[in-house]
Amino acid sequence: AIDIKTLRASTGMVTIDPGYKNTGSCESAITFLNGEQGILRYRGYSIEDLAEKADFLEVAYLLIFGELPNKEQLEKFHSDIKEESQVDEEMKKILDGFPKSAHPMGVLSSLTSALVAFNPSCVDVSSESAMYNSIVRILAKFPVLVAWAMRKKKGLPLDYGDDTLGYVENIHKMMFKRPNQEYKRDRIAIDALDKLLILHADHEQNCSTSTVRIVGSSHAGLFASLSAGISALWGPLHGGANQAVLEMLEAIEADGGDTKKYMAKAKDKDDPFRLMGFGHRVYKNFDPRAKIIKKSADEVLGNLGIEDPILDIAKGLEKEALEDSYFVDRKLYPNVDFYSGIIYRALGIPTEMFTVMFALGRLPGWIAQWREMRLRKEPIGRPRQVYIGENLRDFVPLEKR
Ligand code: ACO
Repeated sequence: AIDIKTLRASTGMVTIDPGYKNTGSCESAITFLNGEQGILRYRGYSIEDLAEKADFLEVAYLLIFGELPNKEQLEKFHSDIKEESQVDEEMKKILDGFPKSAHPMGVLSSLTSALVAFNPSCVDVSSESAMYNSIVRILAKFPVLVAWAMRKKKGLPLDYGDDTLGYVENIHKMMFKRPNQEYKRDRIAIDALDKLLILHADHEQNCSTSTVRIVGSSHAGLFASLSAGISALWGPLHGGANQAVLEMLEAIEADGGDTKKYMAKAKDKDDPFRLMGFGHRVYKNFDPRAKIIKKSADEVLGNLGIEDPILDIAKGLEKEALEDSYFVDRKLYPNVDFYSGIIYRALGIPTEMFTVMFALGRLPGWIAQWREMRLRKEPIGRPRQVYIGENLRDFVPLEKR
C-alpha cells in the first residue's frame, strides 16, 4: 500500500484551524463586530442606538432586509406575520408527547423541525417570494412554540395570541396570561423583553449562526436549518451560558455568597469550573451588550421593586474579575449572558427557559444570515480535514478479532 503520508500529501494543502478561530466562512453585510473595541452594529446601526430607539420587529426587518422599515413597510410586515400566526392543532399532540421535565430547548428544536410537516411549501428555497413565505411563517409561529414550551414547563394551559397587540406584547401575553384572568399589559416587562431580544438578535458567525448557514447551504429549508441552530445554541459554552450563569449565581448564594472562593476555583487549572458569563471568543475588551444589559437589570429590578441578592453577587464577581490579573490578562469580561438571566428571572421566566429566550431573540439574525447565504448563492459548506488515522489495513474476520 502507498504510504499514508504520501497519500495524504497528494490530497493538496489544507489549513487546520480548530474552532475556526481565524477562518472566515463567508462575506456578510449584516453585522459588524470589533471585539478589540467592543463595537457591535446591525446593518451599520449601533447596538446602543437600536436598543434605545427601535423595537424588536423593526430590528428584525432591518437585519433581514437590510434597511429600517418605513411605516407602511413595517405595517405590511407585521400584518403578513399576523396572517400566519396559527400553529396546526396537530402540533399540540407532539407537544403533549414530551414529559414536563423535558428541556424546553429540546422541545423547541423538535417543534421547529416538526413545523415543516405542516407547512410543506416552506421546503422551497428557490426564490425570494418562497423565502419570504418561510420567513413570515416562522416569525409568526416561533413565538407560539416558545410560549407553548414555557407554559408546558409551568403546567399552564396554552394561550392563543391576540392580533391587536404589538409583536413583543403578544409574545408576553402568550407566555404570561393566567387562565381566567384578563391579560394585563406590563409595560416595564414588555420593554425589558423588547430590549433583550434586540440585544440578542444577531452576532455574526457564531456557533449557532454558522450552523444555520451550513445546514441551509445544502438547500435544506429554513425551519430545518433553524432547528439545527437551536441545538447548537443549547450548549453551555454558547447560548446555554445564560442558564448556567444563573445556576452558578444561585449556587454561590446557597454556599454563603463567597465570591472569592469561586474566583479561585475558576482560576484553578485542575478544576473544570469556569466563571459562566465571562469571556468571549471575539470580545477581548468588553461586550457592549453586557453594558446595556447591566444598566437594564438595575432599572428593571428597581422599577419592579425587586431586591435580588443574586444581582449583588453578580456585581461582586464582576468587580473582582476586573481587578484580577488572571481575568485581565486573558481579557475575560462579562458577556451578554452574565446579566440577562437576572432580568429573565425578575420577569418570572423559569431558568430552563433562558436559552429559549435567547433563541427567540436570535431568530431574525439566523433568518437574515440564511437569506443572505441563499441570495449570494453560496456553495455547500464542506470543511476539509487532515487524516491522522491508520494506514490501509487487512480486514480481520470477526472470529479472529
Ligand atoms: N472562567 C475561567 N477561565 C476562563 C473562562 C472563564 N469563564 N473563559 C476562558 N477562560 C480561560 C481559559 O481557561 C484559557 O486559559 P489558559 O489560556 O490559561 O488555558 C483562556 O481563558 C482562553 O480561553 P478559551 O476557552 O481558549 O477561549 P475561547 O475563545 O475558546 O472560549 C468561551 C470562549 C467559550 C466563551 C469561554 O470564555 C467560556 O467558556 N466562557 C464561559 C461560558 C460562557 O459564558 N459562554 C457564553 C459565551 S457568549 C455567547 O455564546 C452568547
